[in-house]
Amino acid sequence: MKYYIVTYGCQMNVHESEKIAGILESLGYSPCEKREDADIIVFNTCAIREGAEDRVFGNVGNLKKLKKKNKNLIIAVCGCMTQKEQTAQKLLNTFPFVDIVLGTFNITKLGYFIEAVKKGRQIEVLDSGEIDEVLPYKRTSGDNAWVNIMQGCNNFCTYCIVPYVRGREESRKEENILKEVRQVIAEGKYKKITLLGQNVNSYGKDLSPQVSFSKLLSDICAVEGDFTLSFMTSHPKDLTDDVIDTIAKEDKIEKYIHLPAQSGNNRILRLMNRKYTREKYLEIIDKIRAKIPNCRITSDFIVGFPTETEEEFEDTLSLVEKVKYDSIFAFMYSKREGTVAEKMEGQIPEDVKRDRVNRLLALEKKLQKENKHD
Ligand code: SAH
Ligand code: SF4
Ligand code: F3S
Repeated sequence: MKYYIVTYGCQMNVHESEKIAGILESLGYSPCEKREDADIIVFNTCAIREGAEDRVFGNVGNLKKLKKKNKNLIIAVCGCMTQKEQTAQKLLNTFPFVDIVLGTFNITKLGYFIEAVKKGRQIEVLDSGEIDEVLPYKRTSGDNAWVNIMQGCNNFCTYCIVPYVRGREESRKEENILKEVRQVIAEGKYKKITLLGQNVNSYGKDLSPQVSFSKLLSDICAVEGDFTLSFMTSHPKDLTDDVIDTIAKEDKIEKYIHLPAQSGNNRILRLMNRKYTREKYLEIIDKIRAKIPNCRITSDFIVGFPTETEEEFEDTLSLVEKVKYDSIFAFMYSKREGTVAEKMEGQIPEDVKRDRVNRLLALEKKLQKENKHD
């Protein structure tokens, strides 16, 4: 029996697909190269922007032909998109040939659902769960091993769906993380460990006793072996001096920080609920540059957040010019159901958003070129 997994979204989802692969292999499935050869196809979805959801609808729709050819083919859709009950229902209504729809918290029950599929279509969307410590991962990212250190997010940036589909922050116990790192290194195949969390800087605040992110970093570096350590994503409001010092001090830690700014304008940052100002952000950048020479810094930006004026957008352009990032991702604001920004007046027309994203990307291209000439 063969499986095929299609993954959308962030690294956390990539890693989650490794967990799904682990579950399927423990049930006797093996991977295949083409979806046409599969007995089960799993779509692990993302809900961050509308475009991501549209792609899933398109691609799941295309499976109808395969299902016609092979009546026993099982089609499962899981991930952030299906954690939203309305979207899960819409999927089942639009595509009656989909067998299993799972939320983000009940993926470990996949085996049970596969068995149940023979009796009829299944849907279950749970709204809470625990971090699973027992499952074997089927690691697929070459010599890099992803290690999850926490799930969920407490920040509720007003544009973002993640807290609604991934729940509140929940840190894994430090001893379990260290155990996993030791196991991974002992396997001898991995040269790089990448820690994952939506906001890694707030790691351990929910544990008792609390464990700081910088302590976790130092403790992982103390694990014997030849490997580099990196992590994502950092939220500027929580990136403390001790974390910057630890990155500077520890040879094993990659000199790289992804530090999403989202906007260069203080009014928009406030509306986004980001809890830092442009000035505070620039202060952190200065600190990083002073303490970690040659540190690579990258960022994410959203253009066309509700009510963003031309001048406010230009503050984002000037921030990008000032920081001289190694690279940036630029996104057009996408309205997400249930978020605070969805209800805001002053939504920006698509053509204005497109114009702004193009100008930001053009600036990025220009700066990249100049950097190369340096
Ligand atoms: N936890 C990370 C980011 C997760 S989402 C952080 O806080 O930085 C990855 C990126 O998607 C975000 O940094 C943001 O730039 C973008 N994003 C999130 N929601 C969005 C939305 N509604 N519209 C457009 N871009 C969005
Ligand atoms: Fe979304 Fe903000 Fe949490 Fe990042 S920190 S996942 S952008 S709510
Ligand atoms: Fe997308 Fe979920 Fe990641 S919404 S960006 S896959 S946490």
